[in-house]
This record gives sequence, structure tokens and C-alpha cells, in this order.
Amino acid sequence: MQPIILSGEQIDEAAALLKRGEVIAIPTETVYGLAAPIFNAPAIEKIFFLKNRPLDNPLIAHVATFSMAESIIKDRGALFYRLVHAFWPGPLTLILPKQDTVPLIATARLNTIALRMPSHPIALRLIEAVGEPLVAPSANLSGRPSPTSAAHVLEDFPDRLAAILEGGPCSIGIESTVLSLAGEIPTLLRPGAISRQQIEEVLKMNLAAGSAVDKMLSPGMKYRHYAPKAPIFLVSNLPPSCGTDSFVLSREPTGICVYRPLNAKNLYAFFREADRIHADQIWVLLDSASCADEALMNRLRKAAGEI
Ligand code: TXA
Ligand code: MG
Repeated sequence: MQPIILSGEQIDEAAALLKRGEVIAIPTETVYGLAAPIFNAPAIEKIFFLKNRPLDNPLIAHVATFSMAESIIKDRGALFYRLVHAFWPGPLTLILPKQDTVPLIATARLNTIALRMPSHPIALRLIEAVGEPLVAPSANLSGRPSPTSAAHVLEDFPDRLAAILEGGPCSIGIESTVLSLAGEIPTLLRPGAISRQQIEEVLKMNLAAGSAVDKMLSPGMKYRHYAPKAPIFLVSNLPPSCGTDSFVLSREPTGICVYRPLNAKNLYAFFREADRIHADQIWVLLDSASCADEALMNRLRKAAGEI
């Protein structure tokens, strides 16, 4: 059955579905997520099944208040409070030791939990209406680009979701920054809109580089992500073979090709468009500004299969 499309005025209906154990898609400022209440283990299991997500890839808990965050973590320290006061609500996910009450399926059996307070007003109102944190991975089939509009969610889930809560296009367009506070030194596991420099300024310390071992601790990092079907080439000059029907992402118009502006906000929408028009190849023309954008380069290199 097709999902019901709920508007931002229908928060109570959306909350009622979640409380009944239905999985629904919800908007956030980064990307849309597939949500379930954190203490409903069978509903969380459904999320893994729907997305075809490996069970060893843990989920992010979304909270609406600081006290909700405090109820699912332990050992929070000064660094946690400095960061949340600077960046929440917003696209910063923090990893901390979890309370024993959090079901292990949510964290893929890890004793840490990832959590963030989204800034999208509809997401915040929904979490408050449900009254407990909502776990939500991105609302795409595993391996597909994350959805940044309700239409993208519908593309991946035309008939297997109870509802999609419509919240308009996502203002950021790529997934949150993920920072681990579980070890000795804060470690950046996934770059995002909140940059390494912004975090270092607030913490007044350098972040750990994020070694191969840390990446293993963030199981999602080992899976291929964010990928459209066409192969992606990251180049500093377009090759002569690039013709009128080539799909090109670039900061400046290129004239000869199907050109789309290169930016984080629309990156996944353009990947999906390239799939829809059956582009054979996607060329990404990089300049120094793009190369300096750690989050954008991370998503491009993952999509190109380089990391
Ligand atoms: O912006 C976002 O973060 C979006 C929206 C919906 O909030 N969500 C999202 O979720 O991107 P997901 O599941 O696609 O990515 C979560 C990432 C994965 O790489 C996962 O491995 C990592 O966070 N993660 C979650 N819990 C973790 C933990 N306890 N330790 C280490 N990494 C963790
Ligand atoms: Mg994802």
C-alpha cells in the first residue's frame, strides 16, 4: 500500500502511528529518516528489514530536549555540554556510552549510542509528541543516495511504509557530522555541515584524525554509500570525450554538457536525477573550494568508490 502523506499539521497522527509500532519517514534538516521509538525493539527491527540494512550498523537517536538526551547516555562530561550548547539543535551527532535501558538492536550491540537533536521544527514537535527519542537512519534503501525530499523517500519506498511526514526539501542535504566522545580524544567519524574547525574552536583542542580502527568502531563507514547507479569520476578538467549528453556537476556552468551546480544541498537530488535519466557517467569537476570542503569531498569520494 502507498504510504499516507502527512503534513506538518498532522503531528498527532504521525505520533499515533509511531506509538502503534509503525515505521514512518520523517523530515530533518539534513536528510529524511525512517523513524521508530527507541524503546520499541520490534519496530526498530522493521527499520533494518525495510532498508535492507546490515544489523551491525547502529542507528542515531533523535532527541527534542537535553533531558531526553541525558536519559539515554551515561558518563556525559564537560565536552558534551560545550558541544550541545554550541551546536544543538543541529547537524551534530555525538557518540557516548549508552544507558542499559536502550535496546541493543538500536546500537548494533555496541555499548555506545549516537544521538543528536535535529533542528527541523516538525521533527522536534514529533519527538515531543511521542515522548521518547526516535531512532532514525536515513530513509533510503541501503546503498542508495540519502533522500532530501518526501519524493525521494517515495522513490525508494513506494509501498512499504505506513506514512511519510512531509517537511519540504532538507536545508542541509547531507548527513550530520558524527563525532565520538566515547574514547580518550574526540574523534571525527563522519564529516558534515558542522566542520572539524568549528568543533575544534568550541573544544579548544584538535580532534583525533579518525584512524582505520575508529572507522571500524563506526560500522556504517565500511559500507558503500551515497551512490547513484552511474560511475562517478572526480576530475580537475573535463576530458574531450565529455559531450552534450554527459552529466556534469560543477561550480561553474560548462556549456557543453548536462550541467548541475555542485553543492552539498542538492548533491543527492542530482545523483537521483542522473539515475532517472539513465546517465552513463557522472563527471564532477573539482575546484579548490570544493576540495577544501571535507564533508562534500567525503560524500563524493564515497560515491566514486574511492573510500
Ligand atoms: O543526518 C543524519 O545523521 C541522518 C538523519 C536522519 O538524522 N541520519 C543518518 O543515519 O545519516 P545513518 O544511519 O544513515 O548513519 C548513522 C551513522 C552510521 O555511519 C553509523 O555507523 C554511525 O552513524 N553510528 C551510529 N551509532 C554509532 C555508534 N554507537 N558508534 C559509532 N558509529 C555509530
Ligand atoms: Mg544512511
